[in-house]
Amino acid sequence: MIGCLLVFFAGSINMSKAQKQVVVNTQNSSLVLTIGKDGTLYQSYFGKRTSDATQKQLSEKQDVESYVPAGGHDLFEPAIRVVHTDGNPSLQLKAVDYKTEKINDDNAVTTITLKDAVYPVKVLLHFSAFYKEDVLKSWTEISHQEAKPIRVTNFASSMLHFNADHYWLTQFHGDWAEEMKMQESELTSGIKIVDSKLGTRADMYQTPVFMLSLNDKSTENTGELVAGTLGWTGNFQFAFELDPTNKLRVVSGMNPYASDYVLDAGKVLTTPEFVFTYSAQGKGKASRSLHSWARNYGVLNGKGSRYTLLNNWEATQFDFDEKKLEGLFDETKQLGVDMFLLDDGWFANKYPRNNDDAGLGDWQENKKKLPNGLGHLVREATDKGVKFGIWIEPEMVNPKSELYEQHPDWVLKLQNRPEDYFRNQLVLDLVNPRVQQFVYDMVDQMLTKNPGIAYIKWDCNRMMTNTFSPYLKDRQSNTYIDYVKAFYSVLEKLRQKYPTLPIMLCSGGSGRIDYGALKYFTEFWPSDNTDPYERVFIQWGYSYFFPSKTLSSHVTSWGKQSLKFRTDVAMMGRLGFDIDVAKMTKDELKFSQDAVVNYKRLSSVIWNGNMYRLIDPYHNERADLMYVDDSKTKAVLFSYNLHPRYGTDWTPVKLEGLDPEKTYTVKEINLFPGSHSELAENSKQFTGEYLMTTGLNVSKSKEYTSSIVEITQQ
Ligand code: GLA
Repeated sequence: MIGCLLVFFAGSINMSKAQKQVVVNTQNSSLVLTIGKDGTLYQSYFGKRTSDATQKQLSEKQDVESYVPAGGHDLFEPAIRVVHTDGNPSLQLKAVDYKTEKINDDNAVTTITLKDAVYPVKVLLHFSAFYKEDVLKSWTEISHQEAKPIRVTNFASSMLHFNADHYWLTQFHGDWAEEMKMQESELTSGIKIVDSKLGTRADMYQTPVFMLSLNDKSTENTGELVAGTLGWTGNFQFAFELDPTNKLRVVSGMNPYASDYVLDAGKVLTTPEFVFTYSAQGKGKASRSLHSWARNYGVLNGKGSRYTLLNNWEATQFDFDEKKLEGLFDETKQLGVDMFLLDDGWFANKYPRNNDDAGLGDWQENKKKLPNGLGHLVREATDKGVKFGIWIEPEMVNPKSELYEQHPDWVLKLQNRPEDYFRNQLVLDLVNPRVQQFVYDMVDQMLTKNPGIAYIKWDCNRMMTNTFSPYLKDRQSNTYIDYVKAFYSVLEKLRQKYPTLPIMLCSGGSGRIDYGALKYFTEFWPSDNTDPYERVFIQWGYSYFFPSKTLSSHVTSWGKQSLKFRTDVAMMGRLGFDIDVAKMTKDELKFSQDAVVNYKRLSSVIWNGNMYRLIDPYHNERADLMYVDDSKTKAVLFSYNLHPRYGTDWTPVKLEGLDPEKTYTVKEINLFPGSHSELAENSKQFTGEYLMTTGLNVSKSKEYTSSIVEITQQ
């Protein structure tokens, strides 16, 4: 991605000289840092884009140190804390150097080098600015040259300071099958921490994302806010500390919990990227900025297309054989989707994987179920004109497996304590290079033997508990961090050999989603809960931070709603089916086939268009959202009626993002065979202005009904 690096702005700091200013601009935001006369780095400003003249004046503001080290006079939450070899637990960081490197016309990285004058510790602060997208990334590199290893006990990727009258935090919490519940509250004095200690994944109880509104609560189109997310597939922490003068600091990074990092001299601890955007026009703009950054930079094959698919998990669970699967290939073809995805249960012989208590770790085809192996299945699918995808969960093991019998020391487990199972399984000690090699080889051999495999669903069905790495021996407090780094290094290696293969990130339902992983994965599984009523909220929540093409959304039988409602909800993300097609009626099959055709026609707008959340299900008994392509020639509106009360009269839904001057034809699609559109405006033409000021009477007062409307410029 990175072409030639061009240093276009740099300076080295002479302590006796005047202060310096380091400005990081995007199209609509500015971060202004000032290096004081003694080398202390201050945050002078972060917010709406300012003029050069204003920025010059801002350097007078030297009241908040940008990246606060522990052990000095600042008694609030530190960004970094180091315990030196001699036991001294303090740092005094002074800027000694700064530079800005142009990566491309859109992206530049500013790096400030901080050093302690007495102890040989160096911290590089990086700020990567994506101009068009209005997105910033920050991360650090910590290193030293002391005689023995030092302990780094706090290691923020970012510290940001705010000075507003009120602060409104929007966070997202949940649990299995109830992910991404949005909650907004005013921050009060003291510290509010949003974090995770799950180890193998970030998400589930708390998601590594937040929005922080300044002064007043923001809406979709109004208000000042910062939306941020940490790219780290492990323990994260956001600390929001409000001091007695009502100033707020936000410290984002890996969770320091049980993670005093033992760092050898000459080694670098690189912290994960904190990705954030400032918006002065509400949450909608913040989401669109993040989506556009994600497609351009943050997600593997972010600009590319995604496969529609039929998955067999809900329909068969572990109970299938070759014949049944071959029948499902026919159904895949009949449905019109691109790919068949074979889920859990295809492997292990000594302890066959017939339920979730055995076989995990033994990645050989089960001879009873698949006597002719995966190769045969891939060929059969290909012959029938469908692609073949496969489920794996390579970081885990059932104690009832040959892998565990052969390598009992390859699992994370605490000495002198009983093994602690979750879904009958344990986490492999991925920190161990032999385990990394095992995971790499397992995936590599499967793909080498079966080059026709077109897609992987990479699962991770448990968090870490009783965490102890036999490999790390006396460096246990490095386990959480080194596990995630090991996970990335396996993926890095796999991606060198298989740069484009689509891989879905999945984790006991949801629970593993962040931009650290999305560098290697093309999409994620937002929740095992596919009841479309729940999915409206779950997908809505994720949509604040992640673009629709990354949200795997399947039509299943979880909900009791109509097939149309279930399909219409799945179509706002990356559409798939996990349903018994053979049980569909003729009309249901016809409806689904048409839906796939519609989806394929509109998928580039859904995947790459600008998203507008129009009516919010948290405050209404309906949810409406739309996608508009960049040229404003095509748009798709999704409208869901949830539980409207008796007698509800809905107002028209006002569209957004269209060109007021253009004329558009409005057409309801995805109609069930035999039904007609009830949309008064159906098949008529309107100006963009009309659609955005007067709107469409698309909402119905009947629960669990929905409409999809295609809007096309004339
Ligand atoms: C997890 C996933 C499911 C399915 C099962 C298989 O729960 O979320 O989609 O793949 O594992 O065991």
